[in-house]
Amino acid sequence: MSHVNNWANPSKANMQDVYNMAAALEERAQALDQIQVNEALVDALAPVAGEQVLEVGCGSGVLCRQIALGVVPVGKVTGVDISPEFLRIAQDYTASADLSTTIQWGAGQAEVLPFRDASFDAVFAARLLLHISDPQAVLNELVRVVRPGGRAVVMDWDFDTVAIDHSDRELTRRLLHWRCDHHGGNNWSGRQLWGQMAATELVNVKAAPIVSVAHHEYDSLTLSLFKAARVARDGNVISPGEYDAWVDELRSSLAAGSFFASIVYFIVVGERKKEGTWDFQSELG
Ligand SMILES: C[S@@+](CC[C@H](N)C(=O)[O-])C[C@H]1O[C@@H](n2cnc3c(N)ncnc32)[C@H](O)[C@@H]1O
Repeated sequence: MSHVNNWANPSKANMQDVYNMAAALEERAQALDQIQVNEALVDALAPVAGEQVLEVGCGSGVLCRQIALGVVPVGKVTGVDISPEFLRIAQDYTASADLSTTIQWGAGQAEVLPFRDASFDAVFAARLLLHISDPQAVLNELVRVVRPGGRAVVMDWDFDTVAIDHSDRELTRRLLHWRCDHHGGNNWSGRQLWGQMAATELVNVKAAPIVSVAHHEYDSLTLSLFKAARVARDGNVISPGEYDAWVDELRSSLAAGSFFASIVYFIVVGERKKEGTWDFQSELG
């Protein structure tokens, strides 16, 4: 089965698909397990009133709106996305959230950002790098546009860290491994972020794993797992009978209140070196 990853280039998707993708981002941000992950991201970025903040790969702008609350009244958040369609949708959400004077939008490619060097106090990319063929190029751009002393933050999940309580280990491993390696971009991106950030000019690079736990049918991870089963069945990696057995057990454990699944997101933070400061990582080599 050839799988097209619409997140890597939404402009190739039709407008209805883009609306559905934007609605999925908004809905996901309301799920309890994603609220926890997004709060950890905001804490890592630590926006301060008056700052200029950039998000690259902003999608529907849900994180820009959250960060905007930290920089008001005079600070600004800029959301950049490769898709003008997403930006139009993001603009509508911003108007209804009454944040139009704090957030601005720009179409652009993460690999060649349309900004001068050192334009921002803080920059971030969330759930973007897993969809990018050359993440190092994006990270170099993030570092270029953040000011000396400013912060860069990246975040992705690592789908191979999924733990799910299911009686059929072999089937569970088979479908999760296939989903991890064949669907939705580079699902090992999370564990690769630290090395990629450490390879830039950033200093004091730190990684924080966030374990996101799902217990309910409306948690974002739960929905991802049902989807994983569907794509594995459609990819002929599991049979229709195995699909039915696997999801039936999940439905039963959800109904019984015993469902457990988790996944690790990695948030990596670094600072752009100030002139004349000591970089302990490269000094210790
Ligand atoms: C999965 S969404 C994440 C949206 C948002 N950061 C969030 O966490 O809700 C990924 C976004 O990255 C955008 N994108 C993909 N490739 C890009 C690129 N090369 N440059 C800029 N944006 C890109 C997509 O259009 C999409 O809106």
